[in-house]
Amino acid sequence: MKSLLLLAAIGLAAAEDGLAAWLRYARIDNPKTCLAKLPSTIITLNATKGLPVYTAGEELGKGIDGILGKRLEIDERDENGKPRGGKKPAKDSNNAITVGTVAAYAKANPKEAAKLPKLGDDGYYLSVSRGKALILGQNERGTLYGAFRWLQLLGQGNCSDFTLASTPDAPIRWVNQWDNLQDGGTHGSVERGYGGDSIFFWDGYVRPDLTRARLYARLLASIGLNAVVVNNVNADPRTLTPELMDGLARIADEFRPYGVQLALALNFASPQTLGGLDTFDPLEPSVQAWWDNITNELYRRIPDMAGYLVKANSEGQPGPMTYNRTLADGANMFARSLKPHGGIILFRAFVYDHRNLNQTLSWKADRARAAVDYFDGLDDKFDDNVVVQIKYGPIDFQVREPVSPLFAHLVKTPTAIELQITQEYLGQQAHLVYLAPMWKELLDFDLRVDGKPSRTRDIINGSRFNRKLGGYAGVVNVGTNTTWLGSHLAMSNLYAYGRLAWNPSETSEGILSEWISLTFSSDRKVHDVITRMSMLSWPAYENYTGNLGIQTLTDILLGHYGPNPASQDGNPWGQWTRADEDSIGMDRTVWNGTGFAGQYPPEVAELYEHPETTPDNLLLWFHHVPYTYVLKSGKTVIQHFYDAHYAGAETAQTFPQLWQTLKGRKGIDKERYEHVLFRLTYQAGHAIVWRDSICNFYFNKSGIPDELGRVGNYKYRIEAEAMQLDGYVPYDVSPFEAASGTKAVVTKTNSTVGTVSAVLKDLKTGLYDVAVNYYDQAIGNSTWDLYIDRTHVGRWKGDLEYILGRAPSPYIDGQTAARVTFPKVQIKKGSVLKIVGRPDGEEPAPLDYVSIFPHGKGIVD
Ligand code: GCU
Repeated sequence: MKSLLLLAAIGLAAAEDGLAAWLRYARIDNPKTCLAKLPSTIITLNATKGLPVYTAGEELGKGIDGILGKRLEIDERDENGKPRGGKKPAKDSNNAITVGTVAAYAKANPKEAAKLPKLGDDGYYLSVSRGKALILGQNERGTLYGAFRWLQLLGQGNCSDFTLASTPDAPIRWVNQWDNLQDGGTHGSVERGYGGDSIFFWDGYVRPDLTRARLYARLLASIGLNAVVVNNVNADPRTLTPELMDGLARIADEFRPYGVQLALALNFASPQTLGGLDTFDPLEPSVQAWWDNITNELYRRIPDMAGYLVKANSEGQPGPMTYNRTLADGANMFARSLKPHGGIILFRAFVYDHRNLNQTLSWKADRARAAVDYFDGLDDKFDDNVVVQIKYGPIDFQVREPVSPLFAHLVKTPTAIELQITQEYLGQQAHLVYLAPMWKELLDFDLRVDGKPSRTRDIINGSRFNRKLGGYAGVVNVGTNTTWLGSHLAMSNLYAYGRLAWNPSETSEGILSEWISLTFSSDRKVHDVITRMSMLSWPAYENYTGNLGIQTLTDILLGHYGPNPASQDGNPWGQWTRADEDSIGMDRTVWNGTGFAGQYPPEVAELYEHPETTPDNLLLWFHHVPYTYVLKSGKTVIQHFYDAHYAGAETAQTFPQLWQTLKGRKGIDKERYEHVLFRLTYQAGHAIVWRDSICNFYFNKSGIPDELGRVGNYKYRIEAEAMQLDGYVPYDVSPFEAASGTKAVVTKTNSTVGTVSAVLKDLKTGLYDVAVNYYDQAIGNSTWDLYIDRTHVGRWKGDLEYILGRAPSPYIDGQTAARVTFPKVQIKKGSVLKIVGRPDGEEPAPLDYVSIFPHGKGIVD
């Protein structure tokens, strides 16, 4: 007994590591009012262990126990509504929570069932009234969705009586994991993964222990998501070996109780590379036969497999065009194999050939055009179980893109929108960026096809063009980290993705509020603070990264993370800005540019064709203009860049302070509090790195100074290279703008301890905040110690590569630039500031500058 108690205590203590996410089932403030109305029995109708109705019963039991502290009895009924196994009905069976499919309910209660509202696929009916509850699903998983929905409401303290019939907006509500079977060593890594290794694969095989896969399915089902592509779109042909297929079947077994179906990403060349055929031409009968056989083999093991996802002829991946076949020929080959099994193929529109892109050769070259150019003329060529999966924007998950015009071109062919919960270009889960507001803008955008209302959301759900299929694909990078995404706050994006795929009319704030209550608590202040930070986060990130539609100015050749605007241009990846000393932006007009604007239906095309009618936030996406071009706001482009970067970085400075006001509030346990605080503090520092890099880069390019005199003038800074150096030497940073004053210092050798020091003779005696900008490369863990005179102010270590999951970099650049701040440091006039840097491995304890500003004056430099 004692050990059980102990275990329970350990269980509780470990519970706030993030693993339970929004399914913590934490006790609500006032369970009594709810309890008074609560039935004591859960009746499951014709439930089969391992299938969603059964799971619904279990979850209700677990959830109500957690949220309200009451254990309910489960009364299992057979297909005729009679207690299973000859048992007696539960005492209180008239006041029960009844859970099952509509069909099962109708068998025992035909009259009542006839009165129920009609539900669509995966829908549920939920009625709570006077101590009874009825949770009925249109199918098994619909029942589970209904159960989870009620638990979400109870978890927010909503114990009211209500009746609700809900059907998801679209049938396809998939998740795409970009998991690799193996990466170099044994790791099953995740492409663009910032939350640890793959939860599915290890060392080239499916993991023996799939507990996390099961928990993941549970999370996804709780927000209405219904399928997971478990492997990378850059697919490994080995996925289709018999051993792997057996492993995949084990994953599907873990998913099944939650109604989550497994889907697979395929490598187009597999018939050749794995099957040993001499071709992978989709029109070759032997190739079709090979895929038929593979598909049959998969369905033999996984009868409920959802289907396939294919990336073809893109970024070096093989595809039908290798044989001069069309993309439709390629997609239909898979469609035919899947058809007898009821499977569907999501065929990606992310098709472009980087080898054909050359910026210098033509003003008209444009990667953004690729999807429409490739898919035009194919609309009536696809089989009926093909869905074209289109990234939300024409380039690649940037902080601001117009909606892909391809949505307006495919009228007969079902489409799905590809969103990215993975924050690849959006701070890699090391920056808080709540994405629901961005997704909503994209989904609500009216493409005006044929001059009629044509919101993206109505195109993908099939309603605009009368199609049955369509929906949502979310790229997600959960990993083995207990927080799933590497960050507690990033999980609001996954939650929001599911809720919006179910119902895109939900509001960003409403979804957030549910998520906050379930993840933390219903405490008012907790809500106010997290809502405030989250709603400010996307605009702030856009402000301090890339403005006016120029895209996220990250290093696109290295990790897609830190600032490096020059990396956008002069390479074949087509994320160009065409910035020169006078002007900036892609001319995508029809009259003079790449013609991309003309890919939209006429009303929208007309809007984007002219700078005057293009919204400011997309100006540089569509137009090449001088830095002095005056925006609708009255500012010039360059001044907007400066102001936006300062504003964005300033907003990010408020995040750690806001978060700190939550210390000790309900639901803000120590573990998560510290975890979040660390990240928000890091983000605040990195936002300054971003601000300064971008401002200095364009100042240097354009030669136009900041009207407010901020850019290039840092009153409170002391450059490391300007200090007294002992064991340290100056270092030219590349790109130059990733260092204040273009230089940093590094230790003379990998084993020299270095010291920088400066006499603070111009400083008045007082309390200061001391910020140190340094570089934390992934090739060592240097340590730095900061002293004021003889006082040791603090020590920090260059180990962010273990703490933040963001892409590691071996360089001294914008990816690795970081800031540590020591608040309230007492400094006397004439004090000596000293930093001792100890290199480690290949990391030479790099330092950029020290900034000393008066404490509490709201200055950040
Ligand atoms: C981005 C991403 C790649 C990914 C590709 C895709 O370019 O950086 O890692 O493979 O998108 O979506 O296929």
